[in-house]
Amino acid sequence: MIGLGTINIPALRRGQNQSRSFQSSQAAATLAPRSSIHHLRFAIHPQVSAPNIETIVSLAKRRGFVYPSSEIYGGLGSAWDYGPLGVELCNNVKQSWWRWMVYERDDIEGLDSSIILNRLVWKYSGHEETFNDPLVDCRECNSRLRADKLIDGKCPNCGSKNLTEPRPFNLMFRTHVGATAEDDPDALVYLRPETAQGIFINFLNVLNASRRKLPFGVAQVGKSFRNEVTPGNFIFRTREFEQMEMEYFVKPGEDEAAHQEWIDACHQWFQSIGISSGNLRLYEQPQEELAHYAKRTVDIQYRFFPEREDEERHWDELMGIANRTDFDLKTHSKKPEDAEGRRLNPDSTEDLSYFDESTKQRFYPYVIEPAAGVNRTVLAALMDAYSEKTNDKGETRVILRLHHSMAPIKVAVLPLAKNKPEIVGMARAIKRSLQPVLRAVYDDTGGIGKLYARQDEIGTPFCVTVDHQSLEDEAVTVRDRDTWEQERIKVADLQTHLLLRLAPEVGTVVVE
Ligand code: GAP
Repeated sequence: MIGLGTINIPALRRGQNQSRSFQSSQAAATLAPRSSIHHLRFAIHPQVSAPNIETIVSLAKRRGFVYPSSEIYGGLGSAWDYGPLGVELCNNVKQSWWRWMVYERDDIEGLDSSIILNRLVWKYSGHEETFNDPLVDCRECNSRLRADKLIDGKCPNCGSKNLTEPRPFNLMFRTHVGATAEDDPDALVYLRPETAQGIFINFLNVLNASRRKLPFGVAQVGKSFRNEVTPGNFIFRTREFEQMEMEYFVKPGEDEAAHQEWIDACHQWFQSIGISSGNLRLYEQPQEELAHYAKRTVDIQYRFFPEREDEERHWDELMGIANRTDFDLKTHSKKPEDAEGRRLNPDSTEDLSYFDESTKQRFYPYVIEPAAGVNRTVLAALMDAYSEKTNDKGETRVILRLHHSMAPIKVAVLPLAKNKPEIVGMARAIKRSLQPVLRAVYDDTGGIGKLYARQDEIGTPFCVTVDHQSLEDEAVTVRDRDTWEQERIKVADLQTHLLLRLAPEVGTVVVE
């Protein structure tokens, strides 16, 4: 009988967290006698991450992670398409985040709100007025630049300091709903620049339907759009991107402790998906950088630019964790008034306050907001996993040491001889038997060395090889991506063997 359950293997989990270079050899040693492991010609090199984003751009295109969008028409600046492996990696990031954020906790609900919301949402959130970047033009080469990103006040394209005065440029994409004239102000709407506002305007809906008490949170994953002045650095800054946000509602006074807990938890989460702590750091936003609504914001930064000379410029934002105070629920509420008794929001039909039964008090909850980017997480995962191995002939191979939970393909089943129908049939049958519980592929498009190299380069943790002997002994060779060690496993035990070595990172495991 097939049942659902999780298999907990502390030794494997420790292996993942401590030293990814040796994780699978530890796992193999736990599960199989040493005598069944074949040692290979290649030495294991220490883990190194990608030397720069460019290295990932070419790997990503070559192997089907990310392509420049609309390329056959000359491309579209800063737009990228996710290929067969990229879509799997994105899904793994989102699923891992959702599982951690929603399923593994008891205080978070999920939501999926519209991308196009009533324009008033963006009026009262402050985006219409303040969601601006300071824009300057270079008078020499006519480039449009972000004033706050200039180094030494110079144009990065031509080096000139002959720039215009900064002026605000609103980042929201505009469009119109319905068959109205383009300039009809009543038809103007925006593509959302963040998923957060969809959560605030649904606060009462979720509260009433779920009968939650504070503290609780609402999580959402989805596309956001910003007409960035200077997009770039591959998928780091694009005009269309995906966010994973959660708004955690707490009693005022309990906000600071909750904020710190979420900072620590998010820092830990990135490590749990395989990003090394040495490439992560916390950045406390100084007062002058804080958004108008924020009391405190801490960014988790990743070392996206290790090639830069100045160590301080290696780092950029992967996610932000903000204490947004009670700004959001108050601003969308009909009740708050100014000193003269005028409603601050005459358009809202609801009051988004909370009644605390235990104290019989009504107030606007504070909001702690962990906000991460899917695309930046994908980039960080790829950069961090990138490593090269050189054999004694001086040939260099790329090994993508992705955390098992992130690997687009968990296992590749490879026939040693593709002209032997019995071997091909057995390999295909094994692939089909694994697929219900693991993302598995069958590949016979090259010699075994080439097939292994291809799977290493895309981060597949295990290759299963079916050879002539398999037909006799009903066993296959399981090869480990990180150590290149191989062991012989009975076909009847293969699924359990792989699940044990992949678990618990791949989520719920199906066991017999
Ligand atoms: N609701 C808060 C908010 O949106 P943010 O810091 O502007 O905060 C959160 O965005 C995350 O979204 C960022 O840390 C980043 O990972 C991602 N992000 C923001 N703008 C992006 C862009 N233009 N391209 C790719 N990712 C972006």
